[in-house]
Amino acid sequence: MCGIIGYVGQRQGLPIALDGLRNMEYRGYDSAGIAITQGAGIAAVKRAGKLQNLEDRIDEVGVESLKGTTAIGHTRWATHGRPIDENAHPHLSYDGKVAIVHNGIIENFASLRDELRAAGIELRSETDSEVAAHLLARAYNEGETAGDFRASALAVLNRLEGAFTILFMHDDHPDQIIAARRSTPLIVGVGEGEMFLGSDVAAFIEHTKHAVELGQDNVVILRADEYEILNFDGTPATGRPFEIDWDLAAAEKGGYDSFMLKEIHEQPAAVRDTLAGHYQDGRVTLDEQNLTDEDLKYIDQVFVVACGSAYHSGLLAKYAIEHWVRVPVQIEVASEFRYRDPILDERTLVLAISQSGETADTLEAVRHAKAQGAKVLAVCNTNGSQIPRESDAVLYTHAGPEIGVASTKAFLAQVAANYIVGLALAQAKGTKYPDEIAEIYRSLEEIPAKIERVLECEEQVTGIAEVLGAVRTMLFLGRGVGYPVALEGALKLKELAYIHAEGFPAGELKHGPIALIEDDLPVVVIVPSPRGVTVLHSKIVSNIQEIRARGAKTIVIAEEGDTAVEPYANWLIRIPESPSMMQPLLATVPLQYLAAEIAGHCGNTDIDKPRNLAKSVTVE
Ligand code: G6P
Repeated sequence: MCGIIGYVGQRQGLPIALDGLRNMEYRGYDSAGIAITQGAGIAAVKRAGKLQNLEDRIDEVGVESLKGTTAIGHTRWATHGRPIDENAHPHLSYDGKVAIVHNGIIENFASLRDELRAAGIELRSETDSEVAAHLLARAYNEGETAGDFRASALAVLNRLEGAFTILFMHDDHPDQIIAARRSTPLIVGVGEGEMFLGSDVAAFIEHTKHAVELGQDNVVILRADEYEILNFDGTPATGRPFEIDWDLAAAEKGGYDSFMLKEIHEQPAAVRDTLAGHYQDGRVTLDEQNLTDEDLKYIDQVFVVACGSAYHSGLLAKYAIEHWVRVPVQIEVASEFRYRDPILDERTLVLAISQSGETADTLEAVRHAKAQGAKVLAVCNTNGSQIPRESDAVLYTHAGPEIGVASTKAFLAQVAANYIVGLALAQAKGTKYPDEIAEIYRSLEEIPAKIERVLECEEQVTGIAEVLGAVRTMLFLGRGVGYPVALEGALKLKELAYIHAEGFPAGELKHGPIALIEDDLPVVVIVPSPRGVTVLHSKIVSNIQEIRARGAKTIVIAEEGDTAVEPYANWLIRIPESPSMMQPLLATVPLQYLAAEIAGHCGNTDIDKPRNLAKSVTVE
């Protein structure tokens, strides 16, 4: 996700901002920029690409033109708008007096852009963020809040919807930065005669270990020797002071031992951000939609193409789309798709799912589908990457950069996005009533809070892994939507612990895999909700009994309140109640922990970079 740094003090802001951006490179970014003021005009530089491009630009303009002791900086991970120079932050206002950097999504940006255009203001980027700079300049230049930086900032903040960390700089007030946060983090670093802001402590850890965390919907007015915290209505608020006891390496991982564990913990936000803004005024919307409702209505079959974890998320797309839209869905690993010569035509929708947007197998599948006249909709986590560029429509997952090679938060975000696609199709084809779509969307929106609760099972899973130790093999069983979860659980274990693991549909057990069961073999069973398809639930309970009778050790994942499974579980991991289709978004999480923990017992000390694997596979 985007990285933010702010500085107000006695020293030159440029090197401090650049260092801060360098320390946040691990977050992943596609462009970077800095704005500086000393009260004689804001100087700003920004460039797409690596920080080196920004440094080259700074050399071109000369450091002399970037003098000032108040600075803001940003590394951008594109969400709205491609990763190009114009879309990089900071964004300046129409009068050049305001600079802003923003992390998050301003959900009502479209109406704010319209308002600004109607007022004759020209927008220079494709971002959702730029509106904030112009709105602040307008609030400061005219009307009730004219000439008052603080009041203008509060007025603008109260107009923004969505999730954001935002920093405002005004050239008439070079001694301060006003910043705010809603749902995304912002930390104040307290120095001696200087103050810092960071989206995480890595931004300023070299300069101070004293920090203050801002609460939800808090604003901070930062000066060199003081900070003042307010609520959005201007009333005083307090932050949470703390001492940073991490070094830089630990800070980058947010204090977790690995990026993967950090990313597992980021899953509530990944799902929440992916859902944000896609259900408005009673309608489900995609992102860059060059497919009309008419196009979608015309679709009579769907093909899902993807690789690895994305493929497993695609299996869930099949369950959801067939159930909600009543069109046949076929799914294929992308590397097989085009060589099999699938039957595609202009009434076929190909759903291409890829975290990186660069996977060669998936990209080639997209090209093949387009050549056959099919429509292609990409679900992707990387704005501006090749797969969305070549697709007819895109739905971006907002998981933020995923650094751990084994996918965690991107997978859950893909599942959420696939469900949005399913609902958009159901809406276009009229196979669900608007109130049914609203209901399903509501249950999706409840998922992030439920994932938070599932994250609490970490300690329990650590204990299970300790008892299991260095296992040699492991099976995963599921039925219905639990089957793709079983496959994903097995894949995580293969990737991380380098051991043999298989996922099976539990009903298939008796047709072969049951021969593998022997004393003490650990078997994970994902139990469907007892409130859903009840016959599935009772059948899986029988399956658990069958394997227990043959000596397996069962790790059972079941809903709270499901007592029927208790007698057959060696270990029982509880997940909150949810509609059947939503259960994978919860049941996957303990399996991620399990794989990460067992990896340690099996000798993999670097779960972020498992042997032989690459994050983005650009060869077929
Ligand atoms: C690689 C990664 C997997 C990932 C797969 C698909 O093999 O190691 O974790 O699931 O590619 O990647 P994509 O970027 O297309 O989702």
